[in-house]
Amino acid sequence: MSEHVHVSLDAGVVEVVVDRPAKKNALTGDMYAALAAAIEQATEDPAVRSILVTSTGDTFSGGNDLQDFLAGAPGLDSPVVRFLTALATTDVPLVFAVQGPAVGVGATMLLHAEHVVAAETATLQYPFVSMALVPEAGSSLLLPRVTGYLRAAEVMLTGQPVTATRALDLGLVSRVVPAGEEGAAAREFTALLAKQPPAAVRLTKRLLRDDTAGLQGRMRSEFELFVQRLQSPEFVEAVSAFMQKREPDFDALTGP
Ligand code: COA
Repeated sequence: MSEHVHVSLDAGVVEVVVDRPAKKNALTGDMYAALAAAIEQATEDPAVRSILVTSTGDTFSGGNDLQDFLAGAPGLDSPVVRFLTALATTDVPLVFAVQGPAVGVGATMLLHAEHVVAAETATLQYPFVSMALVPEAGSSLLLPRVTGYLRAAEVMLTGQPVTATRALDLGLVSRVVPAGEEGAAAREFTALLAKQPPAAVRLTKRLLRDDTAGLQGRMRSEFELFVQRLQSPEFVEAVSAFMQKREPDFDALTGP
């Protein structure tokens, strides 16, 4: 379990709160394990009608903890892989309330949602290339499916943040609401789901997400490349620059 992830169950809704605001809700191994366990347990419990993910502070999530990445590449049995597998395979509807920046896996996890409410202050950012990495969480497959190829290429290759209103245009979020109203708006959706016949909801989610085998195959390919990139000089320079709050300099680097 993690002191930075709180899980509760009320009226069929499992609410998961990511709570590490001092580090912008960056996700560590312990936090991934807690998130994975919450999704797995919700999936096993037929009384659960939806999973609502929220977070504290001004940032939804800064993505994977970059210090953790420097400490060593994760393996196939790591908590992050367990979390991504649970996220991609659960038949419980996933609902997110996003109050600020959602970066890296903080943004790609939203591609697995059935409903995303964004505050006007929310931004979505996929800075994998900027960090000398490659996309993960199946996002190289899911993002172009949602936005079309050219828009996916733009946001992935430039790493620039996508505003809430553009995210709505691109189909990356379901609703944009004034800041502070995202939690209540997300709960409106979980309340609607709670009125529906639960088995029909789960079966329909499985049909809507009809290609989980293909998705898991893509996630494995992404993971292999991602782990290679974590060992690259480009990545070390990108993370060092982030930690030292300076611009990275890739020009002096040679090789992969
Ligand atoms: N891993 C580890 N620490 C992180 C982090 C991450 N992914 N994201 C933020 N933090 C830490 C910062 O290092 C900083 O720590 P410090 O106070 O000890 O210096 C603290 O959280 C605040 O971050 P800061 O960048 O100063 O806040 P901000 O409000 O200016 O920006 C973000 C917030 C989320 C936009 C910015 O931190 C960010 O872009 N983080 C994402 C990094 C990233 O590239 N993640 C994806 C990896 S694939």
